[in-house]
Formats: sequence, C-alpha cells, structure tokens
Amino acid sequence: MEQVKKQRILSGIQPSGTPTLGNYIGAMRNWKLLEDEYDCLYMIADLHAITVRQEPAKLRQQSMQLLALLLAIGLDPQKNVLFFQSHVPQHSQMAWLLNCYTYMGEMSRMTQFKDKSAKHADNINCGLFTYPILMAGDILLYQANLVPVGKDQTQHLEICRDIATRVNGLYSNVFTIPEGYYPKVGARVMSLQDPTRKMSKSDPDDCFISILDTPDTIRRKYRRAVTDSDGEIRFDPENKPGVSNLLSILCALTGQTIDELTASFAGKGYGELKAAVTDATIETLAPIQERFNQYMGDKAYLETVYRDGAARASHLAERTLQKLMKKIGYVQK
Ligand code: TRP
Repeated sequence: MEQVKKQRILSGIQPSGTPTLGNYIGAMRNWKLLEDEYDCLYMIADLHAITVRQEPAKLRQQSMQLLALLLAIGLDPQKNVLFFQSHVPQHSQMAWLLNCYTYMGEMSRMTQFKDKSAKHADNINCGLFTYPILMAGDILLYQANLVPVGKDQTQHLEICRDIATRVNGLYSNVFTIPEGYYPKVGARVMSLQDPTRKMSKSDPDDCFISILDTPDTIRRKYRRAVTDSDGEIRFDPENKPGVSNLLSILCALTGQTIDELTASFAGKGYGELKAAVTDATIETLAPIQERFNQYMGDKAYLETVYRDGAARASHLAERTLQKLMKKIGYVQK
C-alpha cells in the first residue's frame, strides 16, 4: 500500500524558567499524542530567549532541563526531532532573509512586542521587535503544516502566514502555508492567586505549579490557592474562577468530566477539593520528575539526542533555505 505522507508539525518552547502545570496540561502532554500520526519537530527556542537578558549559566541549565523534560514527558527522540534552535544555523540565516520581506508597520502592530517592551523598558532591542520574523523562519524552514500554539502566539502565526504568502507571491511555491493546531481537549489552567489570568511562570512563585515542584511545595501552593466564600463546589468560571480552575485542573488530570466531579464533591468542602487536586498533581508529576532526574544524570545521552536532532533538523532546514536563496537570485554554492 502506498504510504501517505504525514503532515508535519513544528513547535517551539522557550527555555525561560521551568514549564508550569499549565504548559504541561495545555500543550506539552498533547505532543506525546501526536508522535505517531504526525511528523513532529520540537525546538528549544534558545535564540528567542535572548530577546530579554539571560544569565549565561542559567540559560544553559534551563535549556538542558527543557530537553530532559521533553524526554521525561515521554517524547520519543526517534519519532520526533528534538533540537536546540541555536544548533541549526539556518534559523538565523532565514531570519535575515525574511527580515527583508517584512514591513516595519506589520511588526509594530504585534501586541506581544508592545507588552514586552513595556515590561523591559531598559532593553527594547531590535531582536525583541523582529522576534516574530525569527519565529516565522522557524516554521517555514520545515514546511510545517501545523503549529500548536497558545492564544498568545496566534498573532505571530498570522504574520508568519502573511510573510509566507508574500514570498510565495513573489517567487512562487517556496513555502507551505502553516495553520494553527489547537488540541480538541485542552484545559486552560489559570493562576492560583488570580484565577482570572492564565497560569504563567513569570508571575510570583505561588501563582503557578512548576512541573518540577516537590510534593510539599505543591501541597502548600494549592492550600493557599484563592477560592471564594460561598463554600459550594460548582463549575462557574465567571463567578467562581478559583474553584472552577481547581475543578478543571482535576478534570484534566483524572480524565473525569466536570459533572462527574461536581457530583462526587456534593456536600464536601474546598479543603477536600484542594486535597484531591493536590494528590492528582503529585501523582501526575512524580513519574515525570523521576525520569527527568534520570535524564539529567545522563549528560552523554542528552548530548546524543540533541546532536542527532540538530543534524536531522538542519538537513530539512537547508533544503528550504537553498530553495529560497536560489529564487532570490543568489549565486549557488
Ligand atoms: N514564540 C514562542 C513562545 O514564546 C516560541 C516559539 C519560537 C515557537 N519559535 C516557534 C512556537 C515556532 C511555535 C513555532 O511561546
């Protein structure tokens, strides 16, 4: 039987801090489910990371930790291509080329640039401004069909499509136009202290659960999580955002429905709900943390994974880069 070519997926994750339970539930754990059906590349976006200042030792450590975490959540490094963006020079090369096909006006409309430049007013560098162009190159280099991204990245994906369409219009048939990939089930996990906002690793420590938090820390953070004073366990994100957030985390972790859960908590108090979420979180994260520690203890293995990943990624990226360079009119090497 003729083999149907699998669709290609690319996603990137920045090595800035440890991913949260929200990143895990909303994004990372879905990646494992895609590895048989799609041709997947997952990139540690370390070039993007330096758009804000990074401490060198920390950047290196967090990058390695992220690779170990991708393996710890079960991604098979044979089936998926796992690599560091900085190890594949075509990303920087492509970013320059695409810079020249992107308008200042387009970039100025990016809301994340506006947010980030307000937050880092002392370091509004050009990289922060052109960040979406680097990201567009990440996606287009691999001719990705689908890009799993969170809501905060949809504008960047849109600009990527615009740039690709423009280049295709000028030179015909260079890039695959990518689409967003939004998992069917994916709870949005909110901050434990301000449950009207998304859980974020850049907020104060007690707002989020990190994938690497110890059981004691997890217990403490949930104990302090904001609820409300009416005492009833009911799913109502608008009026009861804290309780609803705990319910949807529990749903996501146990696979039960909201209705099943609310029925099982009838007549019970918030303490019991918090205890159940705590147990489910510890149970989910413990095996991941155990595997994470094993991988972190085996640097030689991590090295083989990222070297192999970079070689495979680079091979694919080079084909697209050469194709574009030829179309632009460069003398071929
Ligand atoms: N900008 C993305 C983020 O901060 C990370 C990223 C970089 C990315 N390159 C990408 C995501 C390509 C998807 C595709 O979350």
